[in-house]
Amino acid sequence: MHTVKLNNNVEMPILGFGVLIDDAQKCEQSVIDAINTGYRLIDTASGYLNEAAVGNGIKKSGVAREELFIATKLWIQEAGYEKTKLAFEKSLEKLQLDYLDLYMIHMPFGDVYGSWRAMEELYKEGKVRAIGVCNFQPDRLMDLMLFNEIKPAVCQIETHPFCQQSDTLKFLQDNNIQIEAWGPLAQGKNDIFNNEILVAIAGKHNKSVSQVVLRWHLQRGVVAIPKSVNKYRIEQNFQVFDFELTTEDMNAITHLDTKTTSFDLRNPELIKMMGKFKYDI
Ligand SMILES: NC(=O)c1ccc[n+]([C@@H]2O[C@H](COP(=O)([O-])OP(=O)(O)OC[C@H]3O[C@@H](n4cnc5c(N)ncnc54)[C@H](OP(=O)(O)O)[C@@H]3O)[C@@H](O)[C@H]2O)c1
Repeated sequence: MHTVKLNNNVEMPILGFGVLIDDAQKCEQSVIDAINTGYRLIDTASGYLNEAAVGNGIKKSGVAREELFIATKLWIQEAGYEKTKLAFEKSLEKLQLDYLDLYMIHMPFGDVYGSWRAMEELYKEGKVRAIGVCNFQPDRLMDLMLFNEIKPAVCQIETHPFCQQSDTLKFLQDNNIQIEAWGPLAQGKNDIFNNEILVAIAGKHNKSVSQVVLRWHLQRGVVAIPKSVNKYRIEQNFQVFDFELTTEDMNAITHLDTKTTSFDLRNPELIKMMGKFKYDI
C-alpha cells in the first residue's frame, strides 16, 4: 500500500475509497468490493447516513481492523464541544469500531472551535489517530491553527482537473497539512471521461481517463478517494501504480483548470440552507 506520512507520523493510504453512496445495500457491497480489491482507506461521514452500512461492509470484508484506515466526519448540526463527543461515539457505534483513523470536521460552519477542542481530546485519549477538516480554505485553516493546540493533519477539499486549487495545495504543503481530494473524478461532471486531452493522454498510456486523473492526483501528492458502485470500475481505479505521467502530461492537465467549484461554500444562501437543514443523523 502506497502511503503518505501525516504531520503526526501516522501513515495514510494515498488512494482510498469514497462512499458517498445513499443506497445501504450498494454501499455495503461496494465497501466489500473495495477492500477485497486492496483499498485500505475508506472515507465516509455521519452526514452520508450510511455509517452502519459501511460498518457492515468492513466487518464482512474479513480484513483485520488494524490494516484499515477508516475516516468519518462530523456534520454541521453536530458541531460544538459536547455534541462532538456524542457524535463521535455514535459514529463509532454505527461503524462497529472502537477507534477511528481520521475524524474530520465536515464543514467550516457552526461551533467548529468547540468541535476542535473535543477532537483534540479524543486524539489525546487515543480514540482517533488523526484529526482534520474538510472544506476549510487557507484563511479558516490559519485561524484554526493559530488559536488551537493541534493543527489539522488532513484537509479534504474539492480537487480535480477542472478545480485544481493550486494555491490551496501550496498553502497546505507549506504548512505540512495533507491535502485530500473530494470529487477526485469531478463527480463525473463536465463530461470528464470524454475530455479530449484526458482521452489522448489515456490512449498514450493504454489506461482509462479515470486512471489518468487518479494518477495525476497521486503525482501532485494529493490523497484521492474515488467513489464507484461498480466492481469493474472500483478495480480499475486501483490500477494506478504501474505507470507514470510525463511532465508534458502533467502540464497539459494543468491547462484544464477552470478555477471554479461545483459547490461554492462562500455562498451565504447555501450556508443558510445547510445550517437550517433538519438532519436525522
Ligand atoms: N468532504 C466533502 O464535503 C465531500 C464532498 C463530496 C464527496 N466527498 C467524498 O469524496 C468521495 C469521492 O467524491 P464523489 O463521490 O463525490 O465523486 P468522484 O469520486 O469524483 O466521482 C464519482 C463518479 O464517477 C463515476 N466513476 C467512478 N469511477 C469511474 C470510472 N473508472 N469510469 C467511469 N466513471 C467512474 C462514478 O460512477 P459509478 O459509481 O457508477 O461508477 C460516480 O458517478 C465521496 O464518495 C466522499 O467520500 C466529500
